[in-house]
Amino acid sequence: MEKYVIKGGTPLFGEVEIGGAKNAALAILAAAMMTDEPVIIENMPDEADTGVILEAMEGIGVEIRRLTRHSVRIGAAHVRDCTIDNEQVKKIRGSYYLIGAMLGRYRSAHVVLPGGCNIGLRPIDQHIKGFTALGARVSIEHGMISAEASRLTGSHIYLDVVSVGATINIMMAAALAEGKTIIENAAKEPHVVDFANFLNSMGANIKGAGTDVIRIRGVERLHGAEYTIIPDQIEAGTFMMAAAATKGDVTLRGVIPKHLESISAKLIEMGCQIREMDDVVQVIAGRRLNHTHVKTLPYPGFPTDMQPQITVALGVASGISIVTESIFENRFKYVDELTRMGANIKVEGSTAIIEGVDRYTGADISAPDLRAGAALVIAGLCAEGFTTIEDIRYIERGYEDLDVKLRGLGAQIERVDTERAVQKFRLKHYAA
Ligand code: UD1
Repeated sequence: MEKYVIKGGTPLFGEVEIGGAKNAALAILAAAMMTDEPVIIENMPDEADTGVILEAMEGIGVEIRRLTRHSVRIGAAHVRDCTIDNEQVKKIRGSYYLIGAMLGRYRSAHVVLPGGCNIGLRPIDQHIKGFTALGARVSIEHGMISAEASRLTGSHIYLDVVSVGATINIMMAAALAEGKTIIENAAKEPHVVDFANFLNSMGANIKGAGTDVIRIRGVERLHGAEYTIIPDQIEAGTFMMAAAATKGDVTLRGVIPKHLESISAKLIEMGCQIREMDDVVQVIAGRRLNHTHVKTLPYPGFPTDMQPQITVALGVASGISIVTESIFENRFKYVDELTRMGANIKVEGSTAIIEGVDRYTGADISAPDLRAGAALVIAGLCAEGFTTIEDIRYIERGYEDLDVKLRGLGAQIERVDTERAVQKFRLKHYAA
């Protein structure tokens, strides 16, 4: 099994290019099958989750042509059926977008129930509420969710919780429904806006994305388009936190600084310098970080997908920090692993009380999920000595070439698949 082996203690320096947003890509790729005409997607991140969605679509007859590593041509003129049932799809949360896309276009969707990271209960009741309001019959049987409708009609939907997935899924089905749909209490994340822009580029009529109220006027059909996905807010944030925790100086290229403001604001409180220019953000952290308090919230609040990374950074900051997770109820599982590296963190319910230690010490640990896995990589990068991280398949679901990009910043990290390779790495870096 592949793992990362890391020799910590080197501050990250240099420039890194940020890729396309995974969570936008999953929705956009699925929605590309809502027309007969070809759709070309650029800036697609090449990671496991996007591969799973494309494979699932290929399985029902969608033609997928990879043009380059980061662009793909999708042709859905010959879809055979609307049932998607494979082991991989079950593992990723974003596969729920296949339901909205097929329901919108074919009025029929049968998809194995989506899973995703084990970070707490991840219900899809708001998706179902939305589909039902548009006139679909939705049922869950034998691990499959089915949505069918003879007609979809616009509706006024008030979401009980702010849900990224439900907001996007309802937009998909409503784009091809008859009449007008209003989504109230909609999610405002950058990828919700990106997704609406993409559907509009295919001929949809969606207004208000990025605010609490989204208005969709259904159209009869969508057409082909060429679209470039926005940069990944969370990949960028992860590198920002890695720069801060290792006391480095890292310039991120190809980002939208506005999307990173909640992260930049925290880093400034923690004593970092942040410089922003057009599509560039530089994080300079020459000294030990200060403590701060963080609460995760829907956008524009601090993202839950950055909670483990900032907790790791605060674990080696001076003083006591409090991190409150308000989106998912079970997102501190990685703290056990961090404790094995010397962290002093107490978790009480949805709150972590962090007493900063001087340093982490390397250990053999496992990635419990995608973002926590990335956070543990950051811990390894600033730890004294060697760290090995198992189960990196979770990390690779959502980060393209994380080890390669980190090496480009001077990190001592390798992706290895044998014990021998671990030993070789250790020997090579012992003296260093
Ligand atoms: C998406 C992201 C995930 C991110 C999360 C919050 C994808 C593939 N995943 O996940 O990386 O952490 O947004 O930014 O884009 N909820 C319900 N009922 C529902 C749907 C959600 O109660 O039908 C609750 C969830 O349990 C959670 C909250 O609403 O407490 C937010 O979830 P949501 O925004 O839907 O997250 P996901 O779409 O699962």
